Amino acid sequence: MANYVVGGATGRVGSVVAAELLARHQAVTAIVRNEERGLEWARRGADVSVGSLDDRAFVARAVHGAAGFFTLLPENVAPDDFHGTRRRMADAIASGVQDGGVPHVVMLSAIAASLPDGNGPAKDLHYCERQLATHAKQVTLLRACYFQDNVSAAIPSAVHGGVYPNFLASADAPIPMTATGDIGRFAANALLNPPQRTETIDVLGPPYTIRQVAEALGRVLGKDLEVVDIPAARQSDTLVEAGIPRPIADAVAEMFAAFNAGLIKPQGDRCLVGATTIEEVIRRYVPSGMTVMPAW
Ligand SMILES: NC(=O)c1ccc[n+]([C@@H]2O[C@H](COP(=O)([O-])OP(=O)(O)OC[C@H]3O[C@@H](n4cnc5c(N)ncnc54)[C@H](OP(=O)(O)O)[C@@H]3O)[C@@H](O)[C@H]2O)c1
Repeated sequence: MANYVVGGATGRVGSVVAAELLARHQAVTAIVRNEERGLEWARRGADVSVGSLDDRAFVARAVHGAAGFFTLLPENVAPDDFHGTRRRMADAIASGVQDGGVPHVVMLSAIAASLPDGNGPAKDLHYCERQLATHAKQVTLLRACYFQDNVSAAIPSAVHGGVYPNFLASADAPIPMTATGDIGRFAANALLNPPQRTETIDVLGPPYTIRQVAEALGRVLGKDLEVVDIPAARQSDTLVEAGIPRPIADAVAEMFAAFNAGLIKPQGDRCLVGATTIEEVIRRYVPSGMTVMPAW
């Protein structure tokens, strides 16, 4: 039986990739960072490989003999050297893939990675894409649009302040938003059906405005939410106030600036469109008992 190695198996997209492959009776090796995080995958029938994606030798060992490898470039890295850490991890992943000789790699990337620079966290994804294109035999680059799951970051301000922050140029302009579950299922499909040649696929979803997302969240919480526009000059500070380290906040603000300037557009060879709705995603993040009761 072919074996598929899944990086980020405890994360939002990677967990769906691994679960989908197991549901289709495939052999899966889940990469986790410590043994405890692997127990659930072992219980579900996967092999577990404990190590870090920034370790070239570990990546090579983990993917050796596998039919395919799903990877991402995690964002939860040391903030002091955010881009440097991620570039070194991209180097380790690409070199490890080459050393391990795996025939096909599916990488979770972003639409914003079509730009080499000035796009915040996505410039490291662009770099990782290039490294994999150079070192891997065959690569499927899944460039995802804005995650519907980003709504989860707004839940605390919605619950406690009745506010939904908007970082886009207009809260009333629809943009495609994709669910991480749909991306995971597309990634599993790509692993099981490797392309004839390296390709870049834009992963889109239903179009929503930020105001529609806020209204949908408000309906689930049982309260009206005020959409508050965060101007470019305040975006990094606002993210820092929400607990995000400054270097990452600066990078995210840079990405919104590029997006709001119209610089970020789908440029892949083809696109896939997920069907999951924002209401379904919100229900996953807001337990039913969390409805906010009226104040009277
Ligand atoms: N948010 C968006 O709108 C958007 C849009 C397009 C693309 N993206 C991209 O999507 C990716 C994030 O995907 P996600 O939401 O599925 O990720 P996630 O839920 O944050 O999960 C990250 C995964 O990576 C693992 N990980 C972290 N550091 C690791 C290391 N050194 N070695 C091995 N594993 C490590 C984590 O393990 P632990 O559980 O141990 O931490 C976790 O399993 C990012 O690259 C981001 O740029 C995001």
